[in-house]
Amino acid sequence: MTRHVLDVTDLAVDELRRVVHLAGVEPSELGSPLRVDGVARGVALVFQKPSLRTRQSMEIAVAQLGGHPVTTRDDEIGFDVRESVEDITRILCGFHSIVAARVYDHTVLARMASVADRPVVNMLSDHSHPLQALADVLTMEQVFGHLSGRTVAWIGDYNNVARSLAEACAMLGARLRFACPVGFGPSEAEVERLTVLGQHQIVVSSRPHDVVDGADAVHTDTWVSMGDEAEASRRERAFEGFTVDASVMAAAPSHAVFLHCLPAHRGVEVSADVIDGSQSLVVAQGHNRLHAARGLLAFLAASQAASQAGEGST
Ligand code: CP
Ligand code: NVA
Repeated sequence: MTRHVLDVTDLAVDELRRVVHLAGVEPSELGSPLRVDGVARGVALVFQKPSLRTRQSMEIAVAQLGGHPVTTRDDEIGFDVRESVEDITRILCGFHSIVAARVYDHTVLARMASVADRPVVNMLSDHSHPLQALADVLTMEQVFGHLSGRTVAWIGDYNNVARSLAEACAMLGARLRFACPVGFGPSEAEVERLTVLGQHQIVVSSRPHDVVDGADAVHTDTWVSMGDEAEASRRERAFEGFTVDASVMAAAPSHAVFLHCLPAHRGVEVSADVIDGSQSLVVAQGHNRLHAARGLLAFLAASQAASQAGEGST
């Protein structure tokens, strides 16, 4: 069976733990799982949206594992404009051992996965950002050890980054709290889904100061994600009062850490003194994208090798 990772929940809990473990392993200990019989395997990286961290970390991770990354912008290949997503995916699967994409519409990833005989990896969609969540978990575990029993607070938009972080935290036993403006928080069904996933009661509030009280980690992200630009002014009005600033961090325990996936907007979703302050882990978090990418790719390469060995023995 081809393993696709479109969401964190495409991994079982033990697989998520395995990926995070692999992310913490020195690259030299992982060998070259993307080099098979001396031949570098390709990894396709297709971007419909801009990227700094995701492109750089995935390219370096592929190279560290012995493979060869090929990055393409959608304006070169034209998803559903020059040719269909399905035709593009089938062709990429003939060249590459893994196909990764950053898309506007999550259903494009589902269409890719439906025709791919190689793993499809989500490098961010409107729905989720699993690679970011892996780095977020790794960063928090580097500080706290296991996340089980820790409290993670999210302030702002319940967006792609929030969803993947929430899934990963729930699966690893952390408690979740959200402070979001009305209309921008998780739906009741989403809260129920996360509660079942994590077996902990989830707090949803519109008061940032309340949700950080007792929190070990405070996360936020932009109020205007890529693709939401037309709503920028409406969103900036709706999110007034949701800036993570020194007064919000003062309501959290002194050991609490601050995280943001970046790019950040100082003075908007986070004040400069918080993101550049002593509780902020954002630079380590950004650097952990490389380790997280390498961990996931090593896991997928090992899964593919095991499945091919299984097919060979039947
Ligand atoms: N955090 C993140 O995904 O960054 P990029 O958009 O720069 O890849
Ligand atoms: N939520 C943001 C994350 C950027 C890495 C976006 O989708 O634009």
